[in-house]
Amino acid sequence: MSTRRGPGTAGAHRPPRRPMLRSTSPARVHARVARWKRDGLTVAFVPTMGALHEGHLSLVRRARASADRVVASIFVNPLQFGPREDFACYPRPARRDRALLAAAGVDLLWEPLARDVYPAGHRTRVRVVGLGDVLEGASRPGHFEGVTTVVLILLEVVAPDVLWLGQKDAQQALLVERMVGDLRLPVKVRRGPIVRAPDGLALSSRNAYLAPAERAQAVALSRGLAAARAALAAGERSAARVTRAVRAVWRRYALVREDYVAVVDAATLEPLKDLGAARRVLVAVAARVGPARLIDNFEWRSR
Ligand code: PAJ
Repeated sequence: MSTRRGPGTAGAHRPPRRPMLRSTSPARVHARVARWKRDGLTVAFVPTMGALHEGHLSLVRRARASADRVVASIFVNPLQFGPREDFACYPRPARRDRALLAAAGVDLLWEPLARDVYPAGHRTRVRVVGLGDVLEGASRPGHFEGVTTVVLILLEVVAPDVLWLGQKDAQQALLVERMVGDLRLPVKVRRGPIVRAPDGLALSSRNAYLAPAERAQAVALSRGLAAARAALAAGERSAARVTRAVRAVWRRYALVREDYVAVVDAATLEPLKDLGAARRVLVAVAARVGPARLIDNFEWRSR
């Protein structure tokens, strides 16, 4: 296991920080966490695919506040990409990512190798029935099977007390929560809120694919959701009309092509009609803007 000091740790007024450990070895990562736990320390885990931004780093900060030690992973998981998706060109700025995680206070960075996560002959898949086939799952067949399979493997190796996920990927968080509950995994799952650019665009590693004109129009997703939120705040309780409020905004953005606008029960992902009866409503959208497929959402609670 190697160590390196993160940038920004030398300031005289800052408390000294432990150097970030880093490893590719599942056995070493497991042993290190086991030692921390034997010493009575709690451990939080933030899995990522790298190409880090403030959204990821906000999860690291929340993880730090929630436990004594923080483990992060960077692994571009081939199993969750479709054959025509962006696995090959997904950005992998490894040195920059390591520096950001060290500066954010990660104690241990695990950068697994694909052959360790999926050794030859590996055949087991984890599927959360139903929840993984709608919304993102309908547009990206097999995606969530890849997500839940890799998250289970990562959890088995790291064995954290707390797992941090982002609300940005609300369906992913819901599936992982369901998997953890169903398999009785001894880990608490926590969600961090969506971190946005100043104009409202949800931060995403895939925003890097946008040309300037596309980037300007990508704001349609959050503006559409703002219109939905405003409709709900004004007392609208028809899912169809909330959906229409989003589409009315999107019509002004020629480069935005809708994949879906969904108003669903946040716990079951079942489509809703009358929002007056639902307790937690998820308004989730997906659209293509140029070469990027972008998603955004918000959760609304009726009182
Ligand atoms: P990745 O897209 O790198 O995201 C890692 C974590 O960061 C996820 O929990 C995601 O929801 C969260 N995140 C992304 N953008 C965010 C934003 N703008 N605000 C707050 N949180 C944000 O999601 C994955 O990787 C993978 O599917 C993974 C769980 C690592 C399994 O391979």
